[in-house]
Amino acid sequence: MSESKTVFKDYSNGLDILASEIGPKFVEYRKHWDNAKNIESSGPLQIDFELLDNCNQRCIMCPRGYLSDSDEYSLNTNARLSVDDMKSAIDQAAEGNLYCVGFSIGEPLLTKKELYAGISHAAQKGVVDIILTTNALLLDEECSNRLLESELTRLHVSIDATTPQTYSQIRGKGFERVIKNLNYFLKRREELNKRLPIVRVSFVEQEQNRHEKADFINQWVNKVESVSVQTMLLSPENKDIAAYDIEAHEKKFDCDYPWKMVEIVANGDLYPCCTFCGLNHLKLGNIKDTTILEAWEGKKMQAVKDGLADESLRVCSVCQRF
Ligand SMILES: C[S@@+](CC[C@H](N)C(=O)[O-])C[C@H]1O[C@@H](n2cnc3c(N)ncnc32)[C@H](O)[C@@H]1O
Ligand code: SF4
Ligand code: SF4
Repeated sequence: MSESKTVFKDYSNGLDILASEIGPKFVEYRKHWDNAKNIESSGPLQIDFELLDNCNQRCIMCPRGYLSDSDEYSLNTNARLSVDDMKSAIDQAAEGNLYCVGFSIGEPLLTKKELYAGISHAAQKGVVDIILTTNALLLDEECSNRLLESELTRLHVSIDATTPQTYSQIRGKGFERVIKNLNYFLKRREELNKRLPIVRVSFVEQEQNRHEKADFINQWVNKVESVSVQTMLLSPENKDIAAYDIEAHEKKFDCDYPWKMVEIVANGDLYPCCTFCGLNHLKLGNIKDTTILEAWEGKKMQAVKDGLADESLRVCSVCQRF
């Protein structure tokens, strides 16, 4: 849990591919991204959307899997973000410095129609980097072909295992289907002679899969652009943020996400990052009551930035992301 994030095949190759395929605006975006705290921005560089508050898996390390419905931070409410609200948020942020849109919360392939609409709208508005993070259970051949025709720039597939046994312990059923789906996607991308979207596979390291880490890296390192081994955030045993022993953990506040992004979840709530550790403490407002740019410049966002600066934000200490 305290081990820092390790990326075995880092993104630099993938970022080079993106820069050469997308061109100067991508390079400008990454410079801004890497210096976000020092560059004045008239809005988020990235918006992450949750289209549906639910998932077709219940992974043991994910709050969707381990939190009960009565929990303060409960998920899986089936709230849906409307396509109009998603488009409106993109339109508002596109007036500022929006470069990237992510579909990385819940399971985006449960809402394919809305996802395809979001990808195409973002591209029309000049967004240069469009990311999908998925468990790939629903990445069937039709979906792969649709995504390969789209403006999607990055496909992130979460796998966490090299065997059906370990996969079922962590994620549930479907290991073979996920591998088949991803292999088809990679084969079609090659047949179409396309470099985008680049593909990243990920492995959230935990007790159940640690013995497969080396195999996971070896298995994927020559097939995809990035293999990411990730630290588990807030384990199921430590899910109660209020009771969490912050003092026992090193404070790490080297986080610049509130200078880079906003997250919009399915009920319209806005957050300054995509962590799931006690998000309720970080809520900036709701899209029904505020515009994206108002939230970006508002008092709540400033309070999060101040809290990061003076290390007073309990939730950030728990997050341990940075
Ligand atoms: C919350 S999921 C949403 C997208 C999609 N359902 C998926 O699994 O890829 C986004 C990413 O968070 C990762 N994740 C889930 N629980 C985590 C935890 N406790 N710590 C770190 N990453 C986690 C998943 O493995 C996945 O790569
Ligand atoms: S598939 Fe993704 S969102 Fe669903 S439970 Fe697993 S990590 Fe969480
Ligand atoms: S919870 Fe705090 S430290 Fe974690 S990503 Fe969000 S703002 Fe950054």
